[in-house]
Amino acid sequence: MRTRIDPETPSEWSSAQPTIDDLREAAAGCTACPLYLNATQTVFGEGPADAQIMLVGEQPGDAEDLAGHPFVGPAGKLLNRCLAEAGIDRSRVWVTNVVKHFKWIPRGKRRIHSKPGSVEIAACWPWLEGEIRAVSPRVLVALGATAAQGMFGRDFRVTRDRGRFISSRLAPYAFATVHPSALLRIPDEAMRDRETARFIADLRTAASAAM
Ligand code: URA
Repeated sequence: MRTRIDPETPSEWSSAQPTIDDLREAAAGCTACPLYLNATQTVFGEGPADAQIMLVGEQPGDAEDLAGHPFVGPAGKLLNRCLAEAGIDRSRVWVTNVVKHFKWIPRGKRRIHSKPGSVEIAACWPWLEGEIRAVSPRVLVALGATAAQGMFGRDFRVTRDRGRFISSRLAPYAFATVHPSALLRIPDEAMRDRETARFIADLRTAASAAM
């Protein structure tokens, strides 16, 4: 039986057990915070409903907002390469974000990414919590500080705790690493290569824990 979810008050269904399809359908109409007003569409998570690994980013970017799929822009392409290097098949992973609408500010003709705040993250939390419950991954990986703090608490520091398993009610194994966009922004090539190798090592940690 399908669970009916009111996208204006998603927190009211948190005791129910909606399926991923219920969640995706309801999230498409989410108006729980104002971000839907300037975004093209809700970008819900994707992957197999029985994925053992769930990767959680910050929010869709410009390319994701237009395509309606998570991690398909430059950061997604780097993520794909790193997953492949770590021996992980992206099609076996659930990929999502803590915030599901693109938050941006205009600069000329461009839409510039704007970091989501705690109100938007809290408004979007029921969707992510629903995804985590429905997919029930063995390993939950936060990509970057926004995702890490959204899932593990405001005091979480990626610089301090990156790559270390933490105790979380959300999944048997949980940890945070850097966001692939942060790797793309490193100007020095040697440093970028070193940091990318560390990121791949973190993904290998996720793969080992998932076995
Ligand atoms: N950055 C994110 O955090 N998520 C995406 O889906 C794309 C870029």
